[in-house]
Amino acid sequence: MTESPHKSHGRKAIRPTLKPRALMTDTPDLVGVWKAKILTLFPTAFPGVLGESLTGKALQEGLWQLETIDLRQFGVGKHRNVDDTPAGGGAGMVLRADVLGDAIDHAMQGVTGNHPLIYLSPRGKPMDQQMMQNLARADGVTLLCGRFEGVDERVLQHYGIQEVSLGDFVMTGGEIAAQALIDATVRLIPNVLGNFASTEDESFSSGLLEHPQYTRPAEWQGRRIPDVLMSGHHGKVAEWRHEKSEEITQDRRPDLWEAYAKSKETKRS
Ligand SMILES: C[S@@+](CC[C@H](N)C(=O)[O-])C[C@H]1O[C@@H](n2cnc3c(N)ncnc32)[C@H](O)[C@@H]1O
Repeated sequence: MTESPHKSHGRKAIRPTLKPRALMTDTPDLVGVWKAKILTLFPTAFPGVLGESLTGKALQEGLWQLETIDLRQFGVGKHRNVDDTPAGGGAGMVLRADVLGDAIDHAMQGVTGNHPLIYLSPRGKPMDQQMMQNLARADGVTLLCGRFEGVDERVLQHYGIQEVSLGDFVMTGGEIAAQALIDATVRLIPNVLGNFASTEDESFSSGLLEHPQYTRPAEWQGRRIPDVLMSGHHGKVAEWRHEKSEEITQDRRPDLWEAYAKSKETKRS
């Protein structure tokens, strides 16, 4: 191998004027810092949107770490092939078990603690806030991004890889799903969002969708901000917001509403 297959993104001692991609250096892990390792054929897709705003700032400040591992570096032959035709025939190509095995072994070297290995896949468990909360409490995560028709099934079985989906639709690759998972997880890590309280009453945290939000101007296109929000009465504001959260959840997400009502019932009994 002529070059290192992995790149770390975002470091503490970085000049903030540089673009995130230009900040990549091969560097050791920061002890105790949540780390995402990404196995991908497109390492230049990272940090992508994760390099912007609060997640980007937190990456630069070393509140979390990102490392991409280029699957191509583990390819076979002169052309570093990573895929081959599906056994049994059919359209498209499948990522090879031996190539993925070498890449995963490389990625997992030295990984300790609670560090799940996940394959982004439309067949997987749909992402939700509870999953992100669990991942944020882990030491990090390794994400395998598929391409083409996906990956050789034996790799999933051999490593006991969890499959996680962004939703009931098919994308061309796992990179966007990986970035969605990391974004939703990293924002739950303490100090990543300036104001931690803002994750406490947002959608899903209490099992409900969030209440409506308003800001200036007080009147816009003939629509006024509800009086209660301008009253300065914190108790009444909290009550109004809770009622609205319940109304919206009941109206839009009967599944969440049923689970919420059940848990309320269990707490009472
Ligand atoms: C074209 S898809 C493969 C779809 C696969 N043949 C199937 O029907 O389930 C290529 C890759 O995109 C990623 N992908 C596509 N849709 C996804 C989703 N909804 N959630 C997560 N990853 C997805 C997966 O990594 C997958 O291996």
